Amino acid sequence: MTDRFNLTGQAALITGGASGIGKAIAQAILEAGGKVWIGSRTAEKVETAVEELSESAGEDAVLGQSLDVTDDQSVEETTAKALESFGRIDILVNSAGIIIKKPTQELTLDEFNTVHESHVTGTLRCCKAVAAAMKEQGSGSIINIASISSFVDLVEVAAYASAKSAILGLTRSLANEWAKYGIRTNAIAPGFIPTDLNRKFLEGTERGRRILENTPMERFGTADEIAGAAVFLSSPAASFVNGHTLVVDGGYLACGIGDSFAPWARPDE
Ligand SMILES: NC(=O)c1ccc[n+]([C@@H]2O[C@H](COP(=O)([O-])OP(=O)(O)OC[C@H]3O[C@@H](n4cnc5c(N)ncnc54)[C@H](OP(=O)(O)O)[C@@H]3O)[C@@H](O)[C@H]2O)c1
Repeated sequence: MTDRFNLTGQAALITGGASGIGKAIAQAILEAGGKVWIGSRTAEKVETAVEELSESAGEDAVLGQSLDVTDDQSVEETTAKALESFGRIDILVNSAGIIIKKPTQELTLDEFNTVHESHVTGTLRCCKAVAAAMKEQGSGSIINIASISSFVDLVEVAAYASAKSAILGLTRSLANEWAKYGIRTNAIAPGFIPTDLNRKFLEGTERGRRILENTPMERFGTADEIAGAAVFLSSPAASFVNGHTLVVDGGYLACGIGDSFAPWARPDE
């Protein structure tokens, strides 16, 4: 491994780190030499993930406990425990999140607020919780998980789309305000990755078929394919990357009106 991507000695706190993209990022940070603290609301899921991740990384490198990013006390406790265990927090990955898919006219304001609370307020709450330690260290990398819906509409996910769009604004604000403390704040916008969050919307559905039709690579991504971007943004290789949103989507956003294989693009065949 080149030293540019080496995370030896670095400690990461990963919300939503017990499944899907968050867990894959935890695995990748461990492989790059770092240590991880993972948390989500379901204690048993966290325990299982800690065991699985520890198999290759060793017990001391992986810790975790139940965490609810919508709860001040839970976030404060988790941050304090991660700091006590590792002595520092170099990386924060905000991967916790939920989705509600329904026609916007049927979406209640409570549902709208719940989605925002987990993605936007939850992300800000965790950023503020780790900021003091990062300021004291004079360094830190915050990675917020945005979405393709930060850029284009995905139909009937208005709360999710507005929350994920807000993540971009929050990322820019923190990148601007906290750079002076040595803290870099960036976002990753994953493309379509079948996980517990969205598998039922993607696999074997008309929605999934249309997504693939507009993805130049003609497939969904895997959580592991998002993880490399997180290692990059955490690492010395990204020392001048701040306020950026890295899209990892197989080309979906670049697709525009369709790909060069579409029948109308090859009228002579
Ligand atoms: N999969 C995709 O295609 C895709 C694309 C773009 C962006 N994203 C984003 O990527 C992130 C990870 O999603 P994923 O696809 O990996 O789905 P996932 O496996 O469902 O991961 C989301 C995790 O967040 C946790 N969580 C939910 N609410 C929480 C809360 N209040 N406090 C703490 N943890 C909470 C869940 O665990 P508990 O239920 O145990 O709390 C779950 O483990 C999300 O922000 C999602 O919006 C996903």
